[in-house]
Amino acid sequence: MNSDPVLSVNIAGIKLKNPLVAASGCYGYGKDYLHWISPEEWGAITLKGTTLHSKKGNLPPRLVETPSGLINSVGLQNPGVDAVLEEELPAMQGYDVAVLMNVSGETEEEYVLLADKLSSVPAVSGIEVNISCPNVEKGGLAFGEDPPMVEKLISRMRQKYAGPLIVKLSPHGSNLPEIARAAEKAGADAISLVNTLRAMVIDIEKNKPVLPQNVGGLSGPAIRPVAVRAVWEVSAAVNIPIIGMGGITCADDALQFILAGARAVAIGTANFINPQVVKETVSGLEEYMRQKGYKYVDEMSGAARR
Ligand SMILES: Cc1cc2nc3c(=O)[nH]c(=O)nc-3n(C[C@H](O)[C@H](O)[C@H](O)COP(=O)(O)O)c2cc1C
Repeated sequence: MNSDPVLSVNIAGIKLKNPLVAASGCYGYGKDYLHWISPEEWGAITLKGTTLHSKKGNLPPRLVETPSGLINSVGLQNPGVDAVLEEELPAMQGYDVAVLMNVSGETEEEYVLLADKLSSVPAVSGIEVNISCPNVEKGGLAFGEDPPMVEKLISRMRQKYAGPLIVKLSPHGSNLPEIARAAEKAGADAISLVNTLRAMVIDIEKNKPVLPQNVGGLSGPAIRPVAVRAVWEVSAAVNIPIIGMGGITCADDALQFILAGARAVAIGTANFINPQVVKETVSGLEEYMRQKGYKYVDEMSGAARR
């Protein structure tokens, strides 16, 4: 095969120059990384989780390292959607990169208000809906764990937001394909997964959990096999594209997600260790495509299941 591989992909109507997405919460609002790398290396960057009102976040410590992983308990610290739009979003304007907003709410109404607000912001290329948050109206059950709740929430957001709507799933629960189908039925344009896994570490000297909230979210290479399995299962269940993530550190890792059925991949924790990870991953993907004779990323997507 002599023609050059084409790295660009279309996700939910957004044209990405390559299939690499910066995962939410691991890339700030984009500008934090300018010193190390241009945002233009990415196909898209996802901004830090944003809520309707500002949130102070959780008490420190917020991070604990574990074997091949990281547990975080940031608690969605953010200045609220209005401040993000006014003070943070402009920093990414002028760069050739898609910008996704990652949104969370404590009630269905908050999600719907966020969708409505973002519907008139052209600088936002799409919304990623984090449904791993506890629903305060339903006694803390996460939105993403109940298919009817997912369908209702995403349908209501769909009515307010005509742009690309990506629903982000956690890997918990045995009904993951059902949850993904509920999102697709409600009009989601894409699924992203996985969010972090609930995890904890106990300090045996102090005789208590290390994190003040006890439980945090595990990310990094430790979760990769779980995430690849989740992508495999969901890609068999839906027809909309998938952005796969969880422990990707290099092209070989990213390829597992693509071969399992993802059209694009996101990198989170690995940016903390190696801010050049996106560049290295893109070159590695290109190299692999050349070696194997693939012209388009879509030809590889799901190849392990055929
Ligand atoms: C410090 C930290 C903050 C995060 N914040 C968010 C967030 O605000 N919204 C969200 O949907 N996911 C958030 N995530 C989850 C990541 O976007 C990603 O789904 C997860 O970490 C798995 O990918 P990774 O192993 O490459 O980090 C966060 C992860 C970390 C480590």
